[in-house]
Amino acid sequence: MIAAPFGLQAWIDKHLPQALGAIGNKEVFKGSDFIFQIIKGPNARNDFHIDPWDEIFYQLKGHIFVHFIEEGREKRLRIEEGEVFILPKQVYHSPRRPPGSVGLVIERPRQPNELDGIAWFCPSCGNRLHQVDFWCDDIEKGLKDIIAAFNADLALRTCGKCGTVLPDPTTLDPWGPGGDEAAPAGAAR
Ligand SMILES: [Fe+2]
Repeated sequence: MIAAPFGLQAWIDKHLPQALGAIGNKEVFKGSDFIFQIIKGPNARNDFHIDPWDEIFYQLKGHIFVHFIEEGREKRLRIEEGEVFILPKQVYHSPRRPPGSVGLVIERPRQPNELDGIAWFCPSCGNRLHQVDFWCDDIEKGLKDIIAAFNADLALRTCGKCGTVLPDPTTLDPWGPGGDEAAPAGAAR
């Protein structure tokens, strides 16, 4: 049975009416050979995801920031409305989505032997605090329980090297003063 074409904007208006929590994503063609998901801001996360496959971003409304780890350092890029971007596989990345932003992210469904990772890094010294590898069989649900467990665990959030505590991002306003929006354009952090 072939489904009829439909307007993406109307689909977004119907399925993403408001903020969906820490990671708000909805798959458009669930069960197909592609993960074709719409993600709406705001989000509030400081975890880094690692995908066994490339990810393609297409920013539909507003801009987002993508933090990533390169050569052991946290860096940041900004994707403007209308821009496309490909994130190479196996790169630690952390998309930060301002309120009202809407983006498309296309991924590959994972086979049972293909694991994703989620990790956290010390904001002071870059030490990797914790990593969980998992099989991402449902992109809408896969990360949420793991992130909630980490945020609830102060010992895991405390850096063993320098003692800095990574904040629970759900207790902060990442779009307030000192957040991503206030950082200099293109700044590496
Ligand atoms: Fe540290």
